[in-house]
Amino acid sequence: MAKILRRERLVPNIHLLEVHAPEVAKKCKPGQFVIIMPDEKGERIPLTIADWDIKKGSITTAFMIVGTSTHKLSLLNAGDEVPVFVGPLGMPSKIEQYGTVVCAGGCFGIAAIYPIARALKKAGNKVITLLDVKANFLLYWEDKLKEVSDQFFVSARDSYYDCKDYIPKALKNIIKKESEINRVISIGCTYLMYTCSEATKTSGVKTMVSLNPIMVDGTGMCGACRVTVDGKTKFACVDGPDFDGHLVDWEELFTRRKAYFEDEVQSLCYWERNQFP
Ligand code: FES
Repeated sequence: MAKILRRERLVPNIHLLEVHAPEVAKKCKPGQFVIIMPDEKGERIPLTIADWDIKKGSITTAFMIVGTSTHKLSLLNAGDEVPVFVGPLGMPSKIEQYGTVVCAGGCFGIAAIYPIARALKKAGNKVITLLDVKANFLLYWEDKLKEVSDQFFVSARDSYYDCKDYIPKALKNIIKKESEINRVISIGCTYLMYTCSEATKTSGVKTMVSLNPIMVDGTGMCGACRVTVDGKTKFACVDGPDFDGHLVDWEELFTRRKAYFEDEVQSLCYWERNQFP
C-alpha cells in the first residue's frame, strides 16, 4: 500500500499525484516511471516520474484523465492509499553535455519533461523548452520549467501566446533559427512525439521520445509494451521508455495502442453508470 500525499487538478483533465514512496524516491532518475493501481480491481497504469523529494520520501507524477482507471485516480485524495505503486521502472534518460537541447512536451509530458530539462541544465546544456497546449488555460508548471530553461516557448491554438502553430512547425522554426541544435527530447501523447520526430528528420537532429505503449507488469515479462525500433523488437518498460524517434515503427505503435479502445469505452460507460447512477 502507498499513501497519497497530494492529488490536485493542475488544469482541466490533468492531475498531479504525490505519493509517499521513500524507496522509490531514493533511487529514481529522470525519465523513469512508476506503475500504479488505483484500486485492487483496477488496471496497472504507467506514469512518468515528474519530480521527487528524498527528504519527504515522495514521488510526484502527472496524469491525464482518459479511461476508467485514470478517472478513479482523479477521485483519490490525500490520506487515501493505493494497493500498488511500483518503481522506479525503465531506463533513465541519458543525460550528457550535448550542447543545445530542445525539450518539447505537451499535456502530461509537460510534467514528465521537467526532471529531464532540469538534469540537462545541470549537466551544462543550453536548454530550450517548447511546450504545446491547445489553449493557454491548459498550461501548467510554466515557472518550474522557465527556471531550468535558457529559452522558453509555448505554442498554443488561442490568441494568448504569440505562436499558434502545432508543435512540429514551432520546433522546425527553432531549429532554423538556432545555429546548432544537438538533440531534441519529446514527451507527450504518441501523436505529438511522432510529429516532433517527423519534424526533425530532414535536419537530422537526434530526437529521443519517451514511448507510452500499453503496459502490464512493467518488468519485461508480459510483452504488452512491445514496440519495433530500427526493425528490432523492444520492450518499452525495460529497454526504454526512451527511444530514437526516427527509428520507431510509429504505425505499429498507433495500432497497438488502440487495441483495447472499444473495451475501454465500454468499461468507462459501465463504471460511470455505477459511480454516478
Ligand atoms: Fe510487460 Fe513491458 S509491460 S513487458
